[in-house]
Amino acid sequence: MLTKLEMLYEGKAKKVYRTEDKDRVIIEYKDDATAFNGKKKGTIQEKGFYNAQISAALFNLLEDNGVKTHFIKKLGDREQLTTYVDIIPLEVVVRNIVAGSLSKRLGLEEGYVLEEPIIEFYYKRDDLGDPLLNNSHIRALKLADEEEIKEITAMGFKVNDILRNYLSNKGIELVDFKLEFGKNNGNILLADEISPDTCRFWDKSSGEKLDKDRFRRDLGGVENAYREVWSRVK
Ligand code: TMP
Repeated sequence: MLTKLEMLYEGKAKKVYRTEDKDRVIIEYKDDATAFNGKKKGTIQEKGFYNAQISAALFNLLEDNGVKTHFIKKLGDREQLTTYVDIIPLEVVVRNIVAGSLSKRLGLEEGYVLEEPIIEFYYKRDDLGDPLLNNSHIRALKLADEEEIKEITAMGFKVNDILRNYLSNKGIELVDFKLEFGKNNGNILLADEISPDTCRFWDKSSGEKLDKDRFRRDLGGVENAYREVWSRVK
C-alpha cells in the first residue's frame, strides 16, 4: 500500500503528493476554482469530489480503449493513484463545435458545428497568458519534437472520438476540451484531468451548459451542472 508523503506540487485545482514509489504519485482534487489564468477565483462546493470521480470514469474508459494514461486507480473520494510524469507544458485543445476563445479569435458564432475537429496547442504559461503555438513554435521552444507532436495529435483525436461517442450516448455534446500530456521513462502518457473544468459539455436536448463556463460566465447552477455530469458517467 502506497501512502501520501510530502506534497510535490500544488496547482490551481489539484495537489500532487510523493509516495514510497518514485514512479507513483497521489493526486488530490480541490474545490478551488479559477478562471482567466487565475484572475477570477472561487470555490465550487464538492467540485473536488465530482471532478475526481468524472475524471476517473473517463480515464478508465480511455484505458479500456487503448489510450495510455497516467491513471492507475481511485483512492477514496477525491484522490487517485497515478504514474509520475514530467508534464509537457502544452495545453492541447480539441474542438468539435466553436465556442470560447475560438469564437472570439475567428469571429465564428458559438455553436457552429465544425466539419472536422480542430486541434490547437497553447503554451502552458500563466505569466504569458497561455499563448497559441504552432508546430514550429513547439520545436523552437523544445517542448516536443515532430514525432512527439504527431503522437500527441493522434492521441488527442483518438481521445475525442472515444469521449464524443461515449458522452453522446449519455445525452452530452462534447463541444471542446483541453488535455495535458506527460512523460515517464520516455513514454508519452495522457495526464492531468478530464472534467467539467477542462471540457465544454452541452446537454444534447436543452443545450444547457454543464461545465465551468457556468462559473466563468456567472450563469449560476455551477454545482448542479457538475453533479449532473457525474450522475451520467458514474
Ligand atoms: P477556450 O475556448 O477558452 O480556449 O477553451 C477551450 C477548452 O479548453 C475548453 O473546454 C476549456 C478548456 N480550458 C482549460 O481546461 N483550461 C484553460 O486554461 C482554458 C483557457 C481552457
